[in-house]
Amino acid sequence: MRSLYQSLEKIIILTFEETFPEANLLAKKLGKRLDPQLVPASKSQFGDFQINGAMGLSKLIQQKPRDIAETIVKELQKNSEFKKICLPPEIAGPGFINLRLQEHCLKSEIQKRLNDKKLAVPVIHKSKELSPIVVDFSSPNIAKEMHVGHLRSTIIGDSIARLLEFRGYSVLRLNHVGDWGTQFGMLIAHLKSVAPQALETANAFDLGDLVMFYKEAKQRFDNDEAFQVNARQEVIKLQQRESKTIKAWKLLCDQSRKEFQEIYNLLDIRLEERGESFYNPFLKKVIDDLDRLSLLVTDQGAKCVFLDDFKGKEGKAMPLIIQKTDGGFNYATTDLAAIRYRLNKKPAGDGACRLIYITDAGQASHFAGVFQVAKRAKWIPKDCSVEHVPFGLVQGEDGKKLKTRSGETVKLKDLLNEAVNRAKLDLIRRLKEEGRTESLEFIENVSRVIGISAVKYADLSQNRITNYQFSFDRMLALQGNTAPYLLYSLVRIAGINRKEGNLNPQSINIDYSEKQEWNLIRELLKFDEIILQVEAELLPNRLCSYLYELCQVFNRFYDQIPILKSKEPSKSSRLLLCRLTADTLKLGLNLLGIKTLERM
Ligand code: ARG
Repeated sequence: MRSLYQSLEKIIILTFEETFPEANLLAKKLGKRLDPQLVPASKSQFGDFQINGAMGLSKLIQQKPRDIAETIVKELQKNSEFKKICLPPEIAGPGFINLRLQEHCLKSEIQKRLNDKKLAVPVIHKSKELSPIVVDFSSPNIAKEMHVGHLRSTIIGDSIARLLEFRGYSVLRLNHVGDWGTQFGMLIAHLKSVAPQALETANAFDLGDLVMFYKEAKQRFDNDEAFQVNARQEVIKLQQRESKTIKAWKLLCDQSRKEFQEIYNLLDIRLEERGESFYNPFLKKVIDDLDRLSLLVTDQGAKCVFLDDFKGKEGKAMPLIIQKTDGGFNYATTDLAAIRYRLNKKPAGDGACRLIYITDAGQASHFAGVFQVAKRAKWIPKDCSVEHVPFGLVQGEDGKKLKTRSGETVKLKDLLNEAVNRAKLDLIRRLKEEGRTESLEFIENVSRVIGISAVKYADLSQNRITNYQFSFDRMLALQGNTAPYLLYSLVRIAGINRKEGNLNPQSINIDYSEKQEWNLIRELLKFDEIILQVEAELLPNRLCSYLYELCQVFNRFYDQIPILKSKEPSKSSRLLLCRLTADTLKLGLNLLGIKTLERM
């Protein structure tokens, strides 16, 4: 109810200012405005909104907050604009003012959403000058395992990108894959020795399982001196862009890319690959410019910037290493070059204004260091921001690192397939119990949607900052805050639609009288505010909690009052609430990257 909130806030601020002119003057001197602290009601029994500002004001003018609240209420009651929106306010506790909206306002808010695909969420109007937002997510490393940490980044990043896109921003979804570095020396040397033919033919060559390949190369590197020499030479050739070495490098990247793409296809997630190698031409300038700005210090042969406010043991300032002793560049150098490129105006860069990085919390100090150096070098313009959006670890049900029964790391593809297979077994069991027969196609589709949704939702519904325990049983349950529960609520509504054939009755004269109806209306109307809140905090779990609550309120409405058996105008009015619930759930789930079903 953003727009109602804004109209109300305007009225209330004015009332505060006019009723307490001395306080207003005082606030102005401090360069502030009086803040009535209008917020959504903390509990629904208190109404729709509450004004908490009497407490703060009382300190400013030495009056009892309760007296202030009474004065404000009296003034508001004289205001015809206010009375159009709210019922007479009530004062609670030390001086909270509870506001309840007029029913006609709630009804017209419902109407507004019935005619608006965006469900009254305010959207930014695209203009040519609007700078894009970079969301840097997923970002696995070539020839290495894409692990559960990358899965979390992929799922959270996609949902944040979707939300920003929905709000009207243009979003660059960047996959900052680790496709450069000294490890390629040993990989290329190994490739040249085990599959020289791969470098001769123009045809695509299947390298098979790259993770095994990486392990073999590493083992040779650790045990074979001649191989080490070879590998080092390959690093140099790679930097010099020697054609055969580059071909080998490309083969390795292509193979990994194919494997990553399988995961993205399963998850139905779109990303633009722009790996670390892209920034190679800009690395030297990072060093040169930091040097010119006198930020660079050579410490034991390495070039680094000493960080303010980052103290190591013994209270010494910590360095961010930008060029290693051997002259090589590292992860931080690349990230600094990437910041500059992304914030640079087009065509020398992406012209972005906001950079969002989604990685595990373990990288927090890396990003803090990189951001600090970029700020000190003045590479982040005033109106631009850089943010690290951290998340916790994925753990097994025992609270330890997620592993297979035999103790190996879990392959993402296996993990996703297992979710789908388990969903399929559940579904087949349920169909049998209900005596239903369904086509193979139905079973395949439903189990794929449920399995993948369950994995995504389980991840998104946790506050991302905390570690999260991966449990197939929990995420696939039909009860609780799970994807299957939400999907099932939608299926219930689709069922009403099938029976009635129409959730869009023409009756415009909507009429509500039951408590369950009003509860559902109030819940539905929270959607726009929730979306803005998720955007402000980049916490998709808030959207999940909201959708879960909405389903619970809807299911109470559905179980406790008749819909199809009720008389007009109640019947049409209730059908409209069903439709709006379905629209809200579908949009909310879509923003989480979750597909929905008509039947399951
Ligand atoms: N490749 C890194 C990893 O696997 C993540 C990269 C995140 N993005 C960035 N710009 N540093 O840990």
